[in-house]
Amino acid sequence: MDLGGGSGCYCIVAARSYPGISAVVLDIAPVVTVTREYIERNGVAQQVSAQKCDFTTDALPEDADVAIMASNLPQYARDVVAGVVRKVYDALLPGGAFHLLGEMLDADGCGPLAPALRGLSEAVNQ
Ligand SMILES: C[S@@+](CC[C@H](N)C(=O)[O-])C[C@H]1O[C@@H](n2cnc3c(N)ncnc32)[C@H](O)[C@@H]1O
Repeated sequence: MDLGGGSGCYCIVAARSYPGISAVVLDIAPVVTVTREYIERNGVAQQVSAQKCDFTTDALPEDADVAIMASNLPQYARDVVAGVVRKVYDALLPGGAFHLLGEMLDADGCGPLAPALRGLSEAVNQ
């Protein structure tokens, strides 16, 4: 499962590379509509689905052995991220793996520049 998977690019490439896997992209409803178009266009609809899910509040699928979450950290506070990590840990099958990718602010909240600007942009645009 890919939390906040957006276009579905990670699952689409994984499915094309490994025909034996299946995956679900989780994102908010308007995004999922577009994700499904990418899944169809890339011919992996047998392996990849997209599902509406707010990963901060909704239950996660409990049949995944790998979870990924990429580029979501700057827009959420530390306690929210910690809660999501806990939910992923509880939802994964035993022995599963969680790949969490992204940038985080320093403890003083002033940098590095890229996550600071991204977080600011997210806050201004919401
Ligand atoms: C910066 S994009 C990254 C997309 C993808 N992970 C990638 O690396 O290409 C962040 C994505 O997370 C989704 N997102 C943010 N908060 C979310 C939430 N609470 N639940 C589900 N999706 C969320 C956004 O809609 C967006 O598609």
